[in-house]
Amino acid sequence: MSPATGRACGKLILLGEHAVVYGHRAIAAAVSRGVTVTLTPRPGPTRLERGPADARLAQVLALALPAEGLGVDIHSELPTGRGMGSSAALSVALLRARAALAGRTLDFDTLHHEGFALERIFHGNPSGLDHAVCALGGAVLYRRGEAPTPLPMPSHPVVVLDSGAAGDTSALVAAVAARRPGVDSALAGLGALVEQALGVLDQPAALGALLLEAHALLRQLGVSTPALDALVALAMDHGATGAKLAGAGGGGVVLALTPDGGEALLREARRRDISAFCCRLPEA
Ligand code: PMV
Repeated sequence: MSPATGRACGKLILLGEHAVVYGHRAIAAAVSRGVTVTLTPRPGPTRLERGPADARLAQVLALALPAEGLGVDIHSELPTGRGMGSSAALSVALLRARAALAGRTLDFDTLHHEGFALERIFHGNPSGLDHAVCALGGAVLYRRGEAPTPLPMPSHPVVVLDSGAAGDTSALVAAVAARRPGVDSALAGLGALVEQALGVLDQPAALGALLLEAHALLRQLGVSTPALDALVALAMDHGATGAKLAGAGGGGVVLALTPDGGEALLREARRRDISAFCCRLPEA
């Protein structure tokens, strides 16, 4: 048998993280950076040949793959723990590679269902948003427990600013759960911003204002950090129409909407030694 490869894109959450865990809708979109998994038949026990240092990975491989006969190579272009869907993309890419080895492709329902089982190992109580986007690509409107809806959305130029710290999604989701019901109005507010955003997806100024409101509500949830707040302020001072942390928080990235292309922001980030890049959302 020859090697088989599976790939999945990463993602950024435009609006609705955390609230989506409690049944509110969220909007997320794919980025072209992603994860590629190659499975190579080999004698002996299945083993990881190359991949991220993550203690949960052994459990994921044990669940998804036969115990014998495969070498696993994982190549990720996504930073780990930064809210860009590295674990969801890994889960989807792994399932695609396993199917490719058997000469099959997987439909979305199977990917979503089996991806959930793997994402639970990484994230405890995931909403399913991350791997829905990584599997579908494009922009997606998602409510937990329902089929995700592809969202016709113009592709916006954005700048992604890395706080340099990783966030622990399952710990942050658990921390928000522990703060309920005190944070329920902030969660409902985040959900309401998603509904408002659906009317202004083609208007960078109005959409940006909603992103900024979302960041304020995410601060109320207690998932932002001084570094993330500073990156949001930096983005607003350099041409962004709005910016927010994207993903679970506690570290990770800030997403800045930059209709001007983001050159000024990117230049300033480089000057300050902040890791940053421009892309489009959705991009893949
Ligand atoms: O994996 P992250 O950091 O992008 O966070 C996922 C978004 C949450 O809403 C915080 C959790 C979830 O499962 O939806």
